[in-house]
Amino acid sequence: MSLIEVKNITKRFGHKVVLDNITLTIDEGDVFGLIGPNGAGKSTLIKIMTGLWDSDGGEVIIDGYDLKKEPLKVKEQIGLVPQEIALFEGITAYDNLEFFGYLYGLKGRQLKERIDEALEVTGLKDRRKEKVNKFSGGMKRRLNIACAILHHPRILIMDEPTVGIDPQSRNHIFEFTKRINKENNTTVIYTSHYMEEVEMLCNKVFIIDLGQEVAYGDKKSIKSMISNNDRILIEAFDYRREMIQAIKQLPGVNECIEEKGLIKLLADKNSFRLEAVLKVIESHGGRIKSINFEEPSLEEVFLALTGRNLRD
Ligand SMILES: Nc1ncnc2c1ncn2[C@@H]1O[C@H](COP(=O)(O)OP(=O)(O)O)[C@@H](O)[C@H]1O
Ligand SMILES: [Mg+2]
Repeated sequence: MSLIEVKNITKRFGHKVVLDNITLTIDEGDVFGLIGPNGAGKSTLIKIMTGLWDSDGGEVIIDGYDLKKEPLKVKEQIGLVPQEIALFEGITAYDNLEFFGYLYGLKGRQLKERIDEALEVTGLKDRRKEKVNKFSGGMKRRLNIACAILHHPRILIMDEPTVGIDPQSRNHIFEFTKRINKENNTTVIYTSHYMEEVEMLCNKVFIIDLGQEVAYGDKKSIKSMISNNDRILIEAFDYRREMIQAIKQLPGVNECIEEKGLIKLLADKNSFRLEAVLKVIESHGGRIKSINFEEPSLEEVFLALTGRNLRD
């Protein structure tokens, strides 16, 4: 059984279908990427998965509990960092954390320890006594994350955590995400319209557009959806133009060009044999310097499946 099961979730606003029969599962320890352009339905799905909004159909089961029937059992396992920052501006970072800690039922020494730990992992220790209205957008976002992890949630959900923040905070959030997943085995759900972030952080991906599933699965299988070809880049010492012609004749090679001294191949995943290419290069007096397999990016996957770019 998966830790999180989202089954046939549908949501309408008036006549507009905002989520259309969404089904997915997330396993413990996953870093799960929910990606799609603005307005795709990501935040709506997150709100339904955390019990903030009701769906118009379908169910969410977390750790075996039906969210609608046993909301408290589910909610205590979740830390949510909403898209809109939710903090008290007029008080210090520390006091914000204390407040959210109380809400989770923490107190005394345990509360202090949890606050110190949250400040540490989000890199805000030195700023704990400053009022939040002095903070940059990135620091506010990190403080929001700190507030969401005080109760050691098994599942951390971050909705577009890197929108509109400085590169330093962005890196902090990446490192934090990797760390909390690796060291605490926290399951992370990360929504973004930046494909390269999800590409780097997540092992499993759900691509959503206009409320519908575009692609879903582990990164590799999603990428193989759009192409039966491998892209291979070979760098050779003593490159000669005749090599290209010879490589083109090999079985499974669909395309071969030279670009800036690199031999670029498009080769069929099944019938192509790398050894044959290496032999050709050697027989023309070349020596291999490097071989790289290039995967299509998630951005390319989105383009191939929807005909549109992810960002306008
Ligand atoms: N409270 C609301 N009332 C009406 N429509 C809404 C409401 N919230 C979101 N929507 C619509 O639902 C769609 C999905 O929005 P949202 O889930 O915020 O997308 P995303 O987070 O992927 O950018 C959008 O078309 C948005 O306009
Ligand atoms: Mg959103």
